[in-house]
Amino acid sequence: MHEQHQILYKHRFVEGIKGIDVYRNHGGYEAFRKALTMTPEAIIDEVKLSGLRGRGGAGFPTHIKWASVPKNTDQEHYLIINADEGEPGTAKDRDLMNNLPHLLVEGCLIGMLAIRARKCYIYIRGEYAEPWQNVQRAINEAYRAGFIGKNVLGSGMDFDVYTHLGAGSYECGEESALISSLMGERGMPRLKAPSAPLYTVSGAWQKPTPVNNVETIATVVPIINMGGAEYAKIGYGSPRSRGTKLTSISGHVKKPGVYEITLGTPMREVIYDIAGGIRDGHTLKTYIPGGSSTGFMMPEPLDYPMDYEGVVTAGAMLGLGSGGLIVMDETTPIVPVTKRLVDFYHHESCGKCTPCREGLNWLAKIYDRILAGGGRPQDLDLIWDICDNVRGKSFCGLGEGAIVPVMTSIKYFRDEYMSYIKSGRDLVMV
Ligand SMILES: Cc1cc2nc3c(=O)[nH]c(=O)nc-3n(C[C@H](O)[C@H](O)[C@H](O)COP(=O)(O)O)c2cc1C
Ligand code: SF4
Repeated sequence: MHEQHQILYKHRFVEGIKGIDVYRNHGGYEAFRKALTMTPEAIIDEVKLSGLRGRGGAGFPTHIKWASVPKNTDQEHYLIINADEGEPGTAKDRDLMNNLPHLLVEGCLIGMLAIRARKCYIYIRGEYAEPWQNVQRAINEAYRAGFIGKNVLGSGMDFDVYTHLGAGSYECGEESALISSLMGERGMPRLKAPSAPLYTVSGAWQKPTPVNNVETIATVVPIINMGGAEYAKIGYGSPRSRGTKLTSISGHVKKPGVYEITLGTPMREVIYDIAGGIRDGHTLKTYIPGGSSTGFMMPEPLDYPMDYEGVVTAGAMLGLGSGGLIVMDETTPIVPVTKRLVDFYHHESCGKCTPCREGLNWLAKIYDRILAGGGRPQDLDLIWDICDNVRGKSFCGLGEGAIVPVMTSIKYFRDEYMSYIKSGRDLVMV
């Protein structure tokens, strides 16, 4: 098996690492001290050398986002951390916040230095009471230790870090909806560039506001510690997918959990070696590689590199996603599982744009009817047509992601739909 580099999780299982003393005894806040001696440009250069791409789902290069923040301006800048983690199958930011909250806080401080911000907001999913407590405790400790607050470590700079709890809306993880929600407005997405300014130029309260995922910002700590060029050496696949990825593996595997996986590790090793393989007596039927929006995939091919490019080559419609691998064996009934996901997206749709608001509503009703035994031969064409009207026409990524499990389930498991339509019964559960 390929060696698994533990970069973020090096100290994950050290007793007491949640507390600032143990964290500091293991090198904690040394990267921040180092970053304090660097210019913002030098920090961004290290991140560029590392090849770090956003771990929140889109895989956008972090250095480009940071470099687009205006430099010669007196206005305040804000850094926002997206800890809204709501994608079905994804729980890696929860694990990081619960177990390594100071890694997140240290990453926030370095991120603020890089973009010349002095205030950072960590927007945490409303249901994440425990992660919030852990992060808030770490922030309080960092204030007391002088890493946050006035004249930090004699630098003449003041830093503040705030937490903000969402109210349980998946849509508020979309970065522009998150900014609106943080400002006290309805959690709906905003117009994006080029039709509107970049958020890095005009975001929260019309000030430059990059939004970064929890894992992305935590990864900046080891990058500053080891140097971007060293970090870029890690990885077995594409030259554009460097480092490691936290991945929550759930479903019918023997060892579900959150793992730090070196990008480029073959998917077969991820499922069979790292997660222990399929439970005894069963076989792999399908899996969702990176959270429900990335859709169903078939057991073959499985020897492709698990990284941003590899999953696309293997056929994933929306790439690596947010790092939520859901594994299903042959006992899984695909139509009810897909219906469950349709219900989720329908419930979470913010209603701003017609294709998503109406399309997901119709999909939910059609799935209800099919599962109740009222399926019609023309339903699959109708579902496909609705998906076509949502795809590429939705205002934000929620609608685009919602149809992926639907389309891939029809593509790969048409016979299970036909069983419902013809006999009102599930092919798997009968
Ligand atoms: C519906 C929807 C939900 C999202 N939820 C999250 C989330 O919970 N956490 C996250 O980091 N990104 C989420 N994103 C992606 C963000 O919009 C954004 O790309 C990300 O926070 C950028 O951070 P990164 O560059 O560090 O990945 C979501 C996107 C959409 C469309
Ligand atoms: S795609 Fe859905 S969630 Fe996004 S703006 Fe449209 S209605 Fe709202």
